[in-house]
Amino acid sequence: MKRTNTCNELTADFAGKEISLIGWVESVRDHGGVIFVDLRDREGITQVVFHPELGATYEKAQKLKDESVIQIFGKVAMREEGTKNPNLKTGDIEVNCSDMIVHNVCDVLPFPLEDERADKVNEDLRLQYRYLDLRRPRNLNLLRTRHKAAVSIRDYLNSNGFIEVETPILFKSTPEGAREFLVPSRTNPGNFYALNQSPQQYKQMLMVAGIERYYQMAKCFRDEDLRADRQPEFTQIDIELSFVEREDMYALIENMLKKTWKDVLGIDIPTPFPRMQYVDAMNRYGVDKPDTRFEMELTDLTNVFQKSQFKVFASVIQNGGVIKAVNAKGLADITQGELKSLEDIAKTLGAKGLAFIKAENGAWKSPILKFLSDEEQAALKEKLNIEDGDIVFFAATDWEHACAILGRVRLDCAKLLQARGRLDIPWDKFNFLWVIEFPLMIYDEEEGRYVSAHHPFTSPVEEDVQYLDSDPKRVRGQHYDIVLNGTELGGGSIRIHQPEVQEKVFRDVLKIPEDVIQSRFGYMLKAFKYGAPPHGGIALGFDRLVTILTNRASIRDIIAFPKTQKGQDLMAQSPSPVTEKQLKDLHIKLDETEIAE
Ligand code: AMO
Ligand code: AMP
Repeated sequence: MKRTNTCNELTADFAGKEISLIGWVESVRDHGGVIFVDLRDREGITQVVFHPELGATYEKAQKLKDESVIQIFGKVAMREEGTKNPNLKTGDIEVNCSDMIVHNVCDVLPFPLEDERADKVNEDLRLQYRYLDLRRPRNLNLLRTRHKAAVSIRDYLNSNGFIEVETPILFKSTPEGAREFLVPSRTNPGNFYALNQSPQQYKQMLMVAGIERYYQMAKCFRDEDLRADRQPEFTQIDIELSFVEREDMYALIENMLKKTWKDVLGIDIPTPFPRMQYVDAMNRYGVDKPDTRFEMELTDLTNVFQKSQFKVFASVIQNGGVIKAVNAKGLADITQGELKSLEDIAKTLGAKGLAFIKAENGAWKSPILKFLSDEEQAALKEKLNIEDGDIVFFAATDWEHACAILGRVRLDCAKLLQARGRLDIPWDKFNFLWVIEFPLMIYDEEEGRYVSAHHPFTSPVEEDVQYLDSDPKRVRGQHYDIVLNGTELGGGSIRIHQPEVQEKVFRDVLKIPEDVIQSRFGYMLKAFKYGAPPHGGIALGFDRLVTILTNRASIRDIIAFPKTQKGQDLMAQSPSPVTEKQLKDLHIKLDETEIAE
């Protein structure tokens, strides 16, 4: 089935040559007497001409359907002046067909494939026919860009002494992290594997094994609620090294991303990346993954309201809480509906209310204005730089919640301002940022104990180890997140490699019962007793990285066969029921009453 050329190769240089092409019929135009077919393969498009003298072949061409697969043989000819197409690389020529093989006739398409029309088609339908949706050149190019990024990253790691090692996907359940997918074991009745959430423990074992520099484009599985930047299975650029400190990790990843951005986008990103402490990120942006492409920073007003007559604020401060605010500059014309949905979102994040002050036509309007003294108003005006046209939102509650609420309000207001053309957040401005000095633990109210902020293998900052018993929340972890434009691209840490410290974290700090420590992590504690090197690593979400590189709104666009919000593969129709026999082999009985619900 040899073709001589691709559909993006033939130019004036080929005039007079006999050639053969294979591809998909992009369009058929019958110009009464001659038929023009645009033939497309993954490289491009070539115009093929069928003349009536061809007889049977001409008649076949008349009946061609879009997206059928054909092979043509013919001679390259220059197009007449005035019919050349400067938008196509092959636009100067056409191929006069002498023979054609029809390999596959395409049925009526379930949706049109031109970008403008296809983009409006319901995503579920496109996912059901994902192979057609992918056939669109723009979407095929997304997969190519993904490939290019993967090649760039592998090149970088290969040339820096890293060895790619595959680790098992069937792992065991260690419910410290995200919810897991379980796999029943037929040969070990009543026992389950868990699909690995990340190769974290295996890569640490590879360090004990002496690999020194490991990487893997690793498939990871998490049974989480899905969002625009989350899939139940995704790919990590997973990295682990022995004999490293935090500074080594920063330089390694900065240079990797620098190369990838250069290779894929031709852009030079400046290094080193800025670093921000977790506490500052929260205080200024309300999140641990700030989008620093625009300002609109949060302001702490606890001091202003220390002696306030406004009971709501005063009592929050008395109970150890804070008052924070954000000035959404130029958004005083926010609609009632937009305001309501901001309030609703704030409430889902634990807000009791979302007090605001609008500055419009030289006056302030606010449900709380009557409670504020002249001094308080003057202080607000000064600290928040309130000008006509602004709207300021307040959160009064404990520090964590106040940050989270206003962090979200900030992002939502930025979207509203963008839609009004008042704020420019360029997609191709790449604000890489290290967020560092995270707390090692956070207190989990529900569980009534400390839990790891990242995972339990993260090493505490050396000088904070002394507070592990007395004041766990004061202990910082040797953890780092790489953040890009408001997305957490990756995270990692220097690990604990001393068995005593690891055991202490499990037992005394995280309060995991002894038998659970042994059954889940016993093998690790044992391994650390046999010459464990100091080590550390990181994992970057490869899908997220490609989503940003290609400026797509959804992670699904850059995954060949993504799952829907409900975790379904609409093309293959998965998940799906299995037979009684299969269940029996796995020693599983279904609770039909629960399924019916
Ligand atoms: P973490 O859990 O932070 O760290 O994951 C690392 C990165 O993986 C990406 N990611 C996801 N991408 C798409 N869909 C998901 N559901 C999803 N979940 C995570 C994110 C995230 O930053 N073992 C540690 C890393 C380490 O310590 O070395 C880990 O997995 O971009
Ligand atoms: P109230 O006196 O409860 O009617 O509240 C007056 C205004 O303050 C309303 O706009 C509420 O939305 C707002 N508000 C109430 N509690 C809080 C809070 N904890 N943080 C921010 N705003 C609040």
